[in-house]
Amino acid sequence: MTTDYQAPVLRILPDAGEPEPLQGLYLNAPLPDSGRLGPFVYGNFVTTLDGRISLHDEETGVEGVPPSIADPRDWRLFQELAARADALITSGRYLRDLKAGTAQDVLPLGTGPAFADLRQWRQDQGLPAQPDVIVLSASLEFEPPQQLLDQGRRLVVLTTEQAADSQARRLMERGVEVRRICSGPRVGGAEAVRVIGDLGYRRVYSVTGPWVFHSLVEAGALDALFLTWRQRIVGGQDFSTITSGPQLRPPADFRLHWMYRDLAPHSVEQFYLCLRPV
Ligand SMILES: NC(=O)c1ccc[n+]([C@@H]2O[C@H](COP(=O)([O-])OP(=O)(O)OC[C@H]3O[C@@H](n4cnc5c(N)ncnc54)[C@H](OP(=O)(O)O)[C@@H]3O)[C@@H](O)[C@H]2O)c1
Repeated sequence: MTTDYQAPVLRILPDAGEPEPLQGLYLNAPLPDSGRLGPFVYGNFVTTLDGRISLHDEETGVEGVPPSIADPRDWRLFQELAARADALITSGRYLRDLKAGTAQDVLPLGTGPAFADLRQWRQDQGLPAQPDVIVLSASLEFEPPQQLLDQGRRLVVLTTEQAADSQARRLMERGVEVRRICSGPRVGGAEAVRVIGDLGYRRVYSVTGPWVFHSLVEAGALDALFLTWRQRIVGGQDFSTITSGPQLRPPADFRLHWMYRDLAPHSVEQFYLCLRPV
């Protein structure tokens, strides 16, 4: 795998372009600051040809993004999208994984030198050093990462009326805001995005997995999907795809907004797509 961010990408849709560096591709892409339900909500996945975004590891019993799916150039674009965000949407499960040490990273922006330009970019835009964090959770069974709170980031949990008072109190005592915004068993995507808009956020990046993504798509609350499409088949019987949940009726249709081909000398060819809902 290469970490050479300067190796070019080539736009092939909607019209062919000249080779350009990967670095800055998403940082400089036009990105609206309002969406269909208020803030502009975007998500991002790296997916294989057979649709896997994560695999269950039979040896460790842990589900996650294995090295066969993860890619440093995709990670760079993930970080660029995070740099654009006022807030990140994550899940109770991600925070449990983080506590267990099996999550990919503490929520961005990466603190290493590879992402120093992104931290500088936020400073130049007058943005806080790190985006705030919105957690969707029905169970409230997670620990708020101390590192996020130490960074002065606002941590808001969106949950339901059914969530246990004791769990809500425990989180609030740690400095987390807990908002019960739905009466059913799960938080609806539309309610979540409206509350996020009321909190003053204009651009929100969903960095979580298939259940949260389903809630957003089902509610018509997603404004753009960034997809890194790896031309690799990994198999596996226990895996996640970009969405989990009840069948969508009607299905959600998307239109390709752009597609880049990665020209880096990879072992695996990959494409970077942006799709917008129809
Ligand atoms: N390849 C990629 O690009 C990519 C990207 C993201 C994630 N992943 C992988 O996908 C897998 C799953 O990720 P994930 O667990 O973060 O995502 P997820 O499946 O969207 O999140 C599941 C958790 O989120 C909470 N949740 C989801 N929807 C909710 C709703 N409508 N209302 C209330 N709570 C809701 C629940 O938390 P509670 O249980 O606390 O109630 C649930 O356990 C992981 O292995 C991750 O590494 C891969």
